[in-house]
Amino acid sequence: MGEFKRTLVTSALPYANGPLHIGHIAGAYLPGDIFVRYSRLKGDDIVYICGTDEYGVPITISADKEGKTPQDIVDHFYPIIKNSFEKLGIKFDNFSRTTNPIHTETAQDFFLKFIEKDYLVKRESEQWFDPEKNMFLPDRYVTGTCPECGHEGAKGDQCEVCGKWYESVDLKNPISQLSGKTPILRKTTHWYMKFNEFQESLKDFIDTRKNWKNNVINYCKGWLDEGLEERAVTRDLDWGIPVPLEEAEGKKIYVWFEAVLGYISATKEWAEKKGDPSLWEKYWKSEESRLIHFIGKDNIYFHALMFPAMLMGYGGYVLEDEIPANEFLNLKGSKLSTSRDHAVWLHEYLELFPPDPLRYVLAANAPEGKDTDFSWADFQSKNNNELADILGNFIHRTVTFVHKYFDGKVPARSELNESDKKLLSEIEKSVSKTGDAFSRFKVRDAVKYMMDLARAGNKYFNENEPWVTRKNDEKRCATTLNMSLQAIKTLAVIAAPIIPFTSEKIWNILNLSETLNWKQAGVTDLKAGHELNTSEVLFAKIEDEIIEEQELKLEDR
Ligand code: 2FM
Ligand code: ZN
Repeated sequence: MGEFKRTLVTSALPYANGPLHIGHIAGAYLPGDIFVRYSRLKGDDIVYICGTDEYGVPITISADKEGKTPQDIVDHFYPIIKNSFEKLGIKFDNFSRTTNPIHTETAQDFFLKFIEKDYLVKRESEQWFDPEKNMFLPDRYVTGTCPECGHEGAKGDQCEVCGKWYESVDLKNPISQLSGKTPILRKTTHWYMKFNEFQESLKDFIDTRKNWKNNVINYCKGWLDEGLEERAVTRDLDWGIPVPLEEAEGKKIYVWFEAVLGYISATKEWAEKKGDPSLWEKYWKSEESRLIHFIGKDNIYFHALMFPAMLMGYGGYVLEDEIPANEFLNLKGSKLSTSRDHAVWLHEYLELFPPDPLRYVLAANAPEGKDTDFSWADFQSKNNNELADILGNFIHRTVTFVHKYFDGKVPARSELNESDKKLLSEIEKSVSKTGDAFSRFKVRDAVKYMMDLARAGNKYFNENEPWVTRKNDEKRCATTLNMSLQAIKTLAVIAAPIIPFTSEKIWNILNLSETLNWKQAGVTDLKAGHELNTSEVLFAKIEDEIIEEQELKLEDR
């Protein structure tokens, strides 16, 4: 890990066919943002890339439903998605769109390179066709029973349950999503990528990814054991990137085959915006660079096998160093669903609440090792009992005490007793533990270690009773407040990747001239006499009625 000079981080490109919900955030975006924020605080050279996935059947189906054009759909949702990310503090270096020309060029260039290298071959095959609608039924236009696991209602290209990527003609009991009838088979021509030729290289690649999560390794090994096959990577569809061949009139590149390349084109766009167009190559084409994809578990095949094969096939690109794939977040015990409107929508949340409590709750409950659950009751309890009563309370009581009895200036520290020393060691421990957790994508642990320090701070404050020593041992009282403030400084830093807006507020209260950075964590150097800014309520308690309204809203749907 240590040998890398720079890092490129991506989060899965969300389809621009609907707003974001908390399930998206918990899986691919918040964990990515937390990791990137931590790395930025350390001063690492890191670039965080994302954008909207704007082609393919997911978009045309939404357009069909709404009676709009696909372009209307993506133009409508791009700003909504971008804005929600910004408000939640998910801070990309570039948030691009796959409909941008730079992406078309990139995808077509890859396509032509694969033709040139003979990885792509043209073949005639039979595909599902809806005679009533007179069109081929690529991908989600047909559903059926998964040939792999038997899941009914599986999509045409991929099964949501077992994650398998297959040819839609292999689906059992196919149903056209347009007419509701059984489609027929009709001949057409497509270009097939010879993924089978990458079998051995991918096996070696997976074998060397020692740190990867078990879920990713196990899925990949299973698919590799079955043996990779040729896969059609073009479609008969109006909406998509044209196959750059004269003989391929009307054919489009399969959305997954180009969407992953969106990471590259979005990095190119970032470099152009920075006025250094070739800068992207430093991240994508250097062995000194580390590539990390944050995704949900349904995207594993495409990121851990298909995309590496494409990068190997083209040549000269780095391969993935890490793919922290998360499980799913459920809502009150059942799967989030856009079509059933069973979701907490991010833009709606952000109209009512500040961003940090949601970041905190989703991070504390991150679906790292298994699916987890969101409920409004848990949200309220974590906000009120943890953020407000532990973290907020410790900071507020300390700072108001200092303003009330020490004129708002950091009190001087005298000789340290056992309790002070214990707090110092808690401060130190919290820095190494959170740092280690952040760097290993263990967001849940990081949240816990951060909150442990706030808990230790409160306990320390209670046990040292500064409201008593103020009257009988002023030096002790001053030392207690000094030490509490030192803990608060470290809290501001180690909490910053998780709750960045609040951390900034805490940093402002401490009135420090240096910008918040990781080196300051654990440094207990607040000087006696240093003036603090006034405290503010960092986390408002959320009343029962507000939560009941949200619960009702979910039930009404
Ligand atoms: O599953 C999804 O939401 C896809 N839009 C993710 C694409 S990730 C990358 F390939 F672009
Ligand atoms: Zn399946």
